[in-house]
Formats: sequence, structure tokens, C-alpha cells
Amino acid sequence: MKVLITGSIAYDYIMTFSGYFKEHILPDQLEHISLSFLVDSMCRQRGGCATNIAYNLALLGERPTVMGTVGQDFGEYRDFLERCGVDTSLIVEIKDDFTASFFVSTDKAGNQIASFYTGAMRKARELSFKTLNPGEIRLAIISPNDPEAMKKYARECQELGIPYIYDPSQQIVRLKGKELIEGARGAHILILNDYEYGLFKSRTGLTGAQVEELVPTLIITCGENGSYIIEGGRRIDIPAVKPKRFVDPTGVGDAYRAGIIKGIIHNLPWEVAGRIASLAATYSLEETGPQSHHYTLEEFVRRYEDNFGPEPLVRKALLEGGEASAQLWSLPEANRQQPEARSEKRHLYTGRPRGDKQPLEAQGA
Ligand SMILES: Nc1ncnc2c1ncn2[C@@H]1O[C@H](COP(=O)(O)OP(=O)(O)OP(=O)(O)O)[C@@H](O)[C@H]1O
Ligand SMILES: [Mg+2]
Repeated sequence: MKVLITGSIAYDYIMTFSGYFKEHILPDQLEHISLSFLVDSMCRQRGGCATNIAYNLALLGERPTVMGTVGQDFGEYRDFLERCGVDTSLIVEIKDDFTASFFVSTDKAGNQIASFYTGAMRKARELSFKTLNPGEIRLAIISPNDPEAMKKYARECQELGIPYIYDPSQQIVRLKGKELIEGARGAHILILNDYEYGLFKSRTGLTGAQVEELVPTLIITCGENGSYIIEGGRRIDIPAVKPKRFVDPTGVGDAYRAGIIKGIIHNLPWEVAGRIASLAATYSLEETGPQSHHYTLEEFVRRYEDNFGPEPLVRKALLEGGEASAQLWSLPEANRQQPEARSEKRHLYTGRPRGDKQPLEAQGA
């Protein structure tokens, strides 16, 4: 059974400028800007949401499959992912274009000038879940990508009964309220950071209680303040794990998502899945770039236990390869339901119908 990761696949070009941008921008010449900054350092990092999630999931001992489109410059990135244990067979190379690329220069004051080139990613809309065997897909995630691709994948997962996590993140601003609702209401999980949660509500016009009604499980991450998971009217708070050194937050949200997926495929309770996600995120904070950190599964379990105390379920899932039964995710009928009927939707792990929900506000949250 596959775990299918969709989302951006990108290179990040990161440059530092040892002066101040503001000293070079002439306020009376704004009609004719022509600026060139001599930068002191540049590095190209592997990034992109799909590949970040997959990298972290591979570290956690899984072999995820990434589906996406890349350019002619992807060769060494593919080799790297394969060496790490990621299945890249559904990553399609577009010969006459480049992999999506993010270029950012940061000056001495921390100001940034950035450009994002979508490149081959715009062809992600041409890929389809319909070319795959839905029975083989245990779980998919729809992460930030070409917006047309995100809409199409959500529709297809609903039609094919493929359970999916909806992770619109930074693409929220490029999707209409109606499209966000359509993407979320077929999902088993909606995951957002706290800022994006506010944006999601304002773009859809939904209240927190209505967003909760839309999906069986809502996960909100709050940076150093940890995260919470709401399911069946119950709120589970997950603490953050203090980093040994704070180096670079890029990709921390993606690492967290990998931990959540690991928890789901091993049928772990949310309390445990959330803590795995927190720890996976913290590892990512401790190195530069979203795919530079490493750990062995033994190290991960030891650090988990140092932070949260002994947890036999974590040992079993990470060190003994314990696995959940697949049928808990086979809920094609539930996926096709309209929002009004969602209270019929089943509990993620137990497969039992969800109980009546208390709106979040009613719990004083
Ligand atoms: N400073 C921190 N210290 C400890 N843990 C952190 C910190 N920042 C983030 N985390 C962990 O990572 C999780 C996700 O972080 P956050 O809410 O910042 O995601 P995000 O905004 O989506 O990140 P990204 O910048 O990757 O998009 C948090 O719930 C927490 O567990
Ligand atoms: Mg994020």
C-alpha cells in the first residue's frame, strides 16, 4: 500500500547580501528600478513541500511515493531522494522547463527580495490519480502545488475514495473560498498553521465550529507553542519539543506532517502521532534547509522517550515495524458525502461513526 505525497517539488536558491537594500533603492527613481546586488553567498537547497514531507517520512522508516512534475535540472535531486528511500517513480520530468525555483536574497537587516518561478510545477495539473490503482493507495496528501492540480487531485481522491489529508498552506490565498471548502470537505484531515487557519476562515466565511464540521479531524500547528488536534469534539494539545539549537525553520511544517502520516499508517493514537510529529519538526529546525537533518530510528525513539517518557507504541511502530490494518482508511462512501452528511463520517482510527461534536467555541478554546 502506497502513501502518495503530492505538492510542490522545488529548489531554493538562497543568497545573502552584506549591505542594506534600502541604501540602494532611490525613492525618487521608483519608476526606473534597476538594481543588482552583489551577494556574498549562495546555496541551492532541496525544497518543495512534497519532497520535504517525503524526505522526513523516509527518515521515519517509510517509503513514500511522490507524485509531481519537475524540470531538466532534477537529476541529482532524484538520485538523492532515491538514496534516502523515497519512491520517485511518479515524478515526471518536463524536458524543456526547469524545476520550480525560489530565489531569495536577504540583506543585513533581514529584509528579503524573492521571486518564485513555477516552471515545471504548472504541469502538475496534467497528472492524475486516475492513472493509478486506488486500491493500492493507503493515504494521500494534497500539499501546496499548482492550484489547478490541487483542485483536480481533491476531486479525484473523492471520486476514487482515496483517503487524503488536505494541506493547502501557502496556496490558500490562490484558492477561492468555495474551492477550499471543496478540497477540505472530502478530506479526512485538514491541516493548517494558526495563521493559515485564520485565513482559511476569512476566505471561506466559516466559523471555527463550521470548519470542524467540514472534516473529521482538524490539525492546527502553532510554531513554538506546539499544535492541537480536534476530532469528534475532543481537543488534544501537543507540546512542541525544544530544539537543541535553533538554526532554520524552513520546512518545519512539512516535517511535522510527515510525523502525522507516520502516526496514521501505524494506527497510533493522536496523542502519540502528534508527539512524533513535534519531534520530527524539531529535528528539522536544527539544521539549515528542510532536508539536511538526519537521525536513526533508535535515536528518534530515545529522544522521544527523553521528552515524553516511555511509549511502547512508538518503539513498536518505529523499531519493530508494527503496522495498522488498512481497512480503517477505506471509506469511499464517506468521502463522497456532502458537508451536511459529514457527521456520519467515521472515526479515523476506530472506523466507528463519530460522536456528536461540540463546537470548539463551546469548549472555551
Ligand atoms: N520554535 C520552535 N520550537 C519547537 N518546535 C517548533 C518551533 N517552530 C515550530 N515547531 C514545531 O513544528 C510544528 C509546525 O510549526 P509551524 O506551526 O511553525 O508550521 P508552519 O508555519 O507551517 O511552518 P513552515 O514555515 O514550514 O510552513 C509546530 O506545531 C511545532 O511542533
Ligand atoms: Mg507551513
